[in-house]
Amino acid sequence: MSLPFIDLQAQRLRIETEISDAVLRVVAGGRYVLGPEVGELEKQLAAWCGAKHSVSCANGTDALALPLMAWGVGPGDAVFCPSFTFVATAQVVPWMGASPVFVDIHADTYNMDPASLEAAIARVKAEGKLTPKVVIAVDLFGQPADYPAIRAICDREGLKLIADTAQGFGCTLNGQHPSDWADIATTSFFPAKPLGCYGDGGAIVTNDDWLAERVESLRVYGKVTPTDAAERNFHHDPKYLSLRVGMNSRLDTIQAAILLEKLKIFADEIDQRQRVATRYNAGLGEHVRRVPTVIDGGKSVWAQYVIEHDNRDGLQAHLSAQGIPTAVYYPVPIHMQDFAAPYAPPAGTLPVTEDASRHVIALPMHPYLGEADQDRIIDAIRGFNG
Ligand SMILES: Cc1ncc(COP(=O)(O)O)c(C=O)c1O
Repeated sequence: MSLPFIDLQAQRLRIETEISDAVLRVVAGGRYVLGPEVGELEKQLAAWCGAKHSVSCANGTDALALPLMAWGVGPGDAVFCPSFTFVATAQVVPWMGASPVFVDIHADTYNMDPASLEAAIARVKAEGKLTPKVVIAVDLFGQPADYPAIRAICDREGLKLIADTAQGFGCTLNGQHPSDWADIATTSFFPAKPLGCYGDGGAIVTNDDWLAERVESLRVYGKVTPTDAAERNFHHDPKYLSLRVGMNSRLDTIQAAILLEKLKIFADEIDQRQRVATRYNAGLGEHVRRVPTVIDGGKSVWAQYVIEHDNRDGLQAHLSAQGIPTAVYYPVPIHMQDFAAPYAPPAGTLPVTEDASRHVIALPMHPYLGEADQDRIIDAIRGFNG
């Protein structure tokens, strides 16, 4: 029998009535775009992170692009980011006309290595072609990046810090959220994310008043903000006075209503994901090249449970033959993708990234993975002699 990789239906059945009622309320209410549920969700997302502001948008990619637009990042600017992440993290940079500069990761956490970040900044400064502007740290597979170290580097170098927490929304480090260190944290509500909706969605969280207002303006074509309006005599709908080039990036009200219901069970789901990860670690620790390590003081939301194996592709075929789905995040590091050719780092700069891409394999992970199914997965891996 085939197992699901992520069991979204089990979650849906848990809160089926609540979700159906919430969706129907929006349908009956008729405020389909930026309706009251959107504002309520933004309030609750900010509260979840103990932050001042949250602004929702259409997806996690726009959430990354919006602060870059707000800061005016453009041609000649360097944005430092990992190469071992989903392509969106890096693609937003050339979208702005700026250049991604790829940074290596820690072998044990897969998150940005602060020493590699320092080396990349020094290299860019020595070359003198680009101006260092922004760092994008990623909470890969659900665990927080090394924010204290990365923030210290950003402060010393005068750089802005974005926490791309698309996979890690809800994670903490020493009890603090990524938005406590970063100028802005961004997330995605893609259905497979730990906090996902039933389509596309995204949001930012920030303590920066100016930035929150700018992002809100930019997501609606650069509309006039309350601060702008106070300086002008404009009393019509703010979207009809456009002060800067923005975009259309809104969260559907139906998706906000669904997320409000999902937020109610999110803390419990994170605990359940931790239960699954702890059992995997205990069952597999001796039998594979590497099981995940979480940074000291870190709490992961386990978007993925990723192990390493010397014969990764053989293991994947072995599990697939037994109806056990797996996935490889990420088989091709971003600096080796065609679109990134103009930004390729010097050869040998990202050895940990390249090694990880050859060995990682993600196992089924979701809050509803029962012990019998998990034991079947663990036994199948232990029985592989490849
Ligand atoms: C690390 C990371 N950043 C950004 C994104 C982009 O999010 P979205 O697919 O909602 O645009 C994703 C998700 O797919 C992601 O995993």
